[in-house]
Amino acid sequence: MLGLRHLLIVTFLCCIHFRGVKLHVDSAQSSVFAAKGGPATVPCRFWYEPEFSSPREVRVKWSWQPAAGGHETDVLVAFGSRTRTFGEFRGRVELRQDFPGDAALVLTELQLNDTGRYRCEVVDGLEDKSISVNLELQGVVFPYQHPRGRYHMSFLGAQQACEDQGATLATFTQLLQAWKEGLHWCNAGWLADGTVQYPITQPRTSCGGHGLAPGVRSYGRRQLRLHRYDVFCFTSSFRGEAVYYLQPSDKMNLTEARQACQELGAEIARVGQLFAAWKFAGLDHCEAGWLADGSVRYPITRPRTNCGPAEPGVRTFGFPPPQQKHGVYCYRAGED
Ligand SMILES: *[C@@H]1O[C@H](CO)[C@@H](O)[C@H](O)[C@H]1NC(C)=O
Ligand SMILES: *[C@@H]1O[C@H](CO)[C@@H](O)[C@H](O)[C@H]1NC(C)=O
Repeated sequence: MLGLRHLLIVTFLCCIHFRGVKLHVDSAQSSVFAAKGGPATVPCRFWYEPEFSSPREVRVKWSWQPAAGGHETDVLVAFGSRTRTFGEFRGRVELRQDFPGDAALVLTELQLNDTGRYRCEVVDGLEDKSISVNLELQGVVFPYQHPRGRYHMSFLGAQQACEDQGATLATFTQLLQAWKEGLHWCNAGWLADGTVQYPITQPRTSCGGHGLAPGVRSYGRRQLRLHRYDVFCFTSSFRGEAVYYLQPSDKMNLTEARQACQELGAEIARVGQLFAAWKFAGLDHCEAGWLADGSVRYPITRPRTNCGPAEPGVRTFGFPPPQQKHGVYCYRAGED
């Protein structure tokens, strides 16, 4: 049995050992950019000052605050050689541990809604330090309007509309980035955090207010069930995906257009897929084609006469009657 004297000595040793030693945690990057479907490494490392000669067992915990807002949730907890992963991240995340103090989080098969703030927390006994890193996806923001016209979607309807187009609700950060890249849209749309905003690069009286500076205008948070607006969706693409224009010998109505893609082992493209191909694969085709939602559009990266406005963009002709004849944009998923 340990005597009291013995216990005091042990305690004393423990604390001398830790006195003046500081735990540090930092990250080589404050933001990480990645692509949908791909991997991402969120850096985090810890060390002691002065250094310990022998390695110590620490608890590393990664948690995540979705870009859309909401609670911070657990991603991964590691102690020694034991690791646990949680929820949507199960089987998709691991701790890198390439060198002493390496606590980087490696994510694979990134989904559009994985963006947000990742927090790396290191606990050694009573010491507890953490840092946060933002994960952003390279992508494209596009405004979407209901087939029945302007301002027809509740928040839930907007969420569904983006999903149907192979996209997700855009976050404010994503809309702001799109605005910096020149997005100008005069109708207000839902964002992932339940606010309603619109990006203005050329203010006019009818659009963003005369004499006001360009910027992202906000109506603030709106009632999710009651209020109706358009929506800003966000999408990305990954290697191997392809969108192309198809026009067999004759132009097609909407039913025939769907079939034409299917007969080639593809499917009629969704709006998000067309935007991603325009942005990331430089798709440029000056003929209108059907899309899965029944709208008709075409993508232009090199503006020219008879192909719409002077800026690059995806031109839209709304939702014509389904018996109208057009070409079609087909989508084929990657091999890998
Ligand atoms: C994120 O997106 C994936 C794929 O679209 C979906 O299965 C998952 O439920 C979404 N997760 C959350 C938290 O919304
Ligand atoms: C498209 O044309 C086919 C005949 O080729 C016809 O059966 C079908 O009803 C038409 N669909 C629409 C939406 O007009």
